[in-house]
Amino acid sequence: MGDRAAVDDDSSVDGRLSPPPSFVEQANVGENLREEFDREWPACWNRAGECLSWETPADSVLDDSEPPFYRWFPGGQLNAAYNCVDRHLESGRKNHAAIRWEGKDGERRTYTYQELFVEVNECAAALRDLGVEEDDVVTIYLPMIPELPIAMLACARIGAPHSVVFAGLSAAALATRMDAAESDFLLTCDGYYRRGDAFNQKRKADNAVLSVDADVTTVVVDRLGEELTHVLGSNEHDYDDLLETHAGATVDPVTRDAEDMLFLMYTSGTTGEPKGVVHSTGGYLAYAAWTTRTVLDVKPKDTYWCAADIGWITGHSYIVYGPLALGTTTVMYEGTPDYPDRDRLWELVERMAVDVFYTAPTAVRAFMKWGTAYPEAHDLSSLRLLGTVGEPINPRAWHWYHEHIGGGECPIVDTWWQTETGGIAISTVPGVDDMKPGAAGKPLPGIEVDLLASDGTPVDSGETGYLTLSRPWPGMAKTLYDGDDRHLEEYWQQFSDPDAGRWRYASGDAARMDEDGYLTILGRVDDVINISGRRFSTMEIESAIVGVEGVAEAAVVGGPDGSDVYAYVSTERGTEPGAELEERVLAGVERAIGSIAQPGTIVFTPELPKTRSGKIMRRLLEDVTNGEPLGDTSALRNPEIVGEIQSTVRDQ
Ligand code: WT7
Repeated sequence: MGDRAAVDDDSSVDGRLSPPPSFVEQANVGENLREEFDREWPACWNRAGECLSWETPADSVLDDSEPPFYRWFPGGQLNAAYNCVDRHLESGRKNHAAIRWEGKDGERRTYTYQELFVEVNECAAALRDLGVEEDDVVTIYLPMIPELPIAMLACARIGAPHSVVFAGLSAAALATRMDAAESDFLLTCDGYYRRGDAFNQKRKADNAVLSVDADVTTVVVDRLGEELTHVLGSNEHDYDDLLETHAGATVDPVTRDAEDMLFLMYTSGTTGEPKGVVHSTGGYLAYAAWTTRTVLDVKPKDTYWCAADIGWITGHSYIVYGPLALGTTTVMYEGTPDYPDRDRLWELVERMAVDVFYTAPTAVRAFMKWGTAYPEAHDLSSLRLLGTVGEPINPRAWHWYHEHIGGGECPIVDTWWQTETGGIAISTVPGVDDMKPGAAGKPLPGIEVDLLASDGTPVDSGETGYLTLSRPWPGMAKTLYDGDDRHLEEYWQQFSDPDAGRWRYASGDAARMDEDGYLTILGRVDDVINISGRRFSTMEIESAIVGVEGVAEAAVVGGPDGSDVYAYVSTERGTEPGAELEERVLAGVERAIGSIAQPGTIVFTPELPKTRSGKIMRRLLEDVTNGEPLGDTSALRNPEIVGEIQSTVRDQ
């Protein structure tokens, strides 16, 4: 454990911890990796390619003749479903568990690789029979049930790119995405459970289909049976009936070029239009597999659990493609961490003897808020490695996770990446690097990060700069579905100098690098706020506030006059909001950054408004702060909290 005094100053990186020797000994990768990658770049990426089985080996690792449209493993041919399923049967793993699924009420299903093979083939045969051809985009609008990864793999088998739309998104969001992708096939379900309530998914899908331009063919999974009856209309098919019709059918995996699209994933951009990020078959899959092996240290014998939703990129890369390509057992959990009780995840870790656990810092902070009794009630000694993803993890939460979940013995990887990077790009390599709580770590081997000022010049060590990636990597998005021009504009124009042959990917994040090359991610550049002419990252201030004893979460936004800062703060159980806590918050910010960054107004609230994927909706808080009409609240998990916050702000 890091020393306690340092833990109190939560804004900065504290201490340095080495991975325990017992972990280092068994780690998938060892020392010298970075040097080897530097020396052999780009040939080093053959190691990622070697994680896969190729029908036709690639002519070379990288064709960089038309930057920034890099072609990874050109000439190579493969099928992603073959790599994630069939080849494990051939290597004697057919009775090994591929997916272990836990339903909301403790229902359980295990698919061995053989069983996965059977169902993926039947589903592929059914899709073909319905008219899905190679390169048709199939939209999948399913919650966390096994049919979701099965449908993804069935699409991959027949060379039809999938576009998974998170099940919690609205009908309007689904329709926009189907239209943008010109998709006329949809897989959905009647409904699903969330905290014991049955949600009607089919109604949302129906509403979306009504407004979609194309004639849509729909497949419906019957998730709720008698609990929610539904009627199939014309051009709608029951999933189980289709599988029964195609029982025992097999479909040869379609040979795909490495550069062919494996899937499309819509993500939000700076404009209102969602961006359709296109991922390739060869580069993406190789990178997902390689990073799962290198960073998450997954081994085929492991039971591995990424507690994310497959509706986002994290689930694509680290619940489905990465772990299945490696032939491991991947856990899929349908429920929430606090239903039926707050020890649900730890009960699962104990029962399944989970080896590697990967989640978001927002979840860790919730566990911390609930207290240690829940994890302490379970034997978590099977855990070997912990991970976080999606936002910075503040040192206090990091130490809590390390001690109370990892028993002080599991390394933690704080992994930075994006929908567009396809896989982890910045992290410690767990058997090689020391950890610094609060810093994500170094760029992975083969990844080059430059931190730049707005004029494109590099910033000094310790200074904040735009986070850019200045070498291509296999997992990088190929393009945007709406076209190469938008791709160039969104990611490459700002910091590249084509005349000098220099291409740099702009991540949209700001970061700081210390003298050891460790990066602290400061968050999206568009979340930067200006206080009295100085720039601060909202995340930087938030992490200072979250470091204060008794604070659970915080969101900071700029106030109406451009100088004041409003901080929205939720407290941990047992902590009373009030003047005393307010003083401590102010002192915490002063200590971490300086009095100039102190919020002028602190609003205590039981919860912060969050999207269903757990991201704080800062934009909505901006509207509340500035007395503006509220933007769209349909993506919120807890819309009711906004009205409460509004009236608190008005009263203040
Ligand atoms: C944005 C990407 C990566 C899959 C989930 C989100 C933030 C991601 C970290 C981290 C600090 C992080 C960045 C990034 N982010 N990981 N370890 N530390 N920030 O994918 O929706 O594409 O979001 O998430 O701001 O740009 P996404």
